[in-house]
Amino acid sequence: MAKSEKEIKTIGVLTSGGDAPGMNAAIRAVTRKAIRNGLKVMGIDKGYQGLLNEEIRPLTAKDVSNSIQNGGTILRTARSEEFGTEEGKIKGAEILRKHNIDALVVIGGDGSYKGALGLSHHGIGVIGLPGTIDLDIACTDYTIGFDTAVNTAMDAIDKVRDTSSSHERCSIIEVMGRRAGYIALWCGVASGAEEILLPEVYDYDEQTIINHIIEARKIGKTHFLIVNAEGIGHSVSMARRIEAATGMETRATILGYMQRGGSPTCKDRFYASIMGAKAADLLAEGTINRVVCHANGEFVDYDIDEALAMTKKVPDYYVEVAKALARG
Ligand code: F6P
Repeated sequence: MAKSEKEIKTIGVLTSGGDAPGMNAAIRAVTRKAIRNGLKVMGIDKGYQGLLNEEIRPLTAKDVSNSIQNGGTILRTARSEEFGTEEGKIKGAEILRKHNIDALVVIGGDGSYKGALGLSHHGIGVIGLPGTIDLDIACTDYTIGFDTAVNTAMDAIDKVRDTSSSHERCSIIEVMGRRAGYIALWCGVASGAEEILLPEVYDYDEQTIINHIIEARKIGKTHFLIVNAEGIGHSVSMARRIEAATGMETRATILGYMQRGGSPTCKDRFYASIMGAKAADLLAEGTINRVVCHANGEFVDYDIDEALAMTKKVPDYYVEVAKALARG
């Protein structure tokens, strides 16, 4: 386990990449637990770009109050092209040293972890916390924001289902996830969708869906729900082709950014709190270059290099069950 060469007295915290509900709970936990551990905490606004712009301020226990219940991130976030370069990372490390920040907690996805790893190569100790609605970080079976996002999307799908049923329509609902289908899989199963289209199992064939709709109509189904993952996309043109082939009115709804907002669920607040506290504890004992994860029912930490080399896939059994349950 990597240990910091010098005593860690001051830590920084930032959120990076797409925001996710629960990030505030993580920032709050990092800040309060670090202060309890005797450390000083600096908040860096707007992710790595804010770091390069030196948007750095002290965080007190009071500064993070009244935030746990809110979506978004009180530190705001950004995607930074400049930080993606080697020069950007060197500059980021120098700025952290200039502000006497000995180690940094990065809350974000895989891309943000890569940035953190880069900083670690330039002498800054880092801890990563998995913050993304997409659940697409290999080392962990939980990411901050996923639970809220799937519940938001499920609620939206239930609503579309009502109107779809009244109008006897087919609805294609596109959910976020970038290249990963976890949101689509969970929402699709939870909302009883007739088809779930995942980028990981690209075995979908439009003619099969069309035949399935025609059969469903014959047995008296009044609606047909297709949950489509962002990684597949093209929901609008798909709707046009399905309507032309089946004669069933078909509408596409792209849920978009509403999935990233809103008050975090209890699970996201609780898990993010534990993870944030664990990051502060690791740094207080001098442990650096780790990512905090949830695996096999426990909160654990892995070496950041090893974590980034891990891979994960949607379990085959989940896909099998999703398919089996969709055919009514
Ligand atoms: O990673 C979270 C996410 O919402 C993805 O699901 C989506 O592909 C992406 O971010 C959108 O990013 P942006 O906010 O840059 O449009």
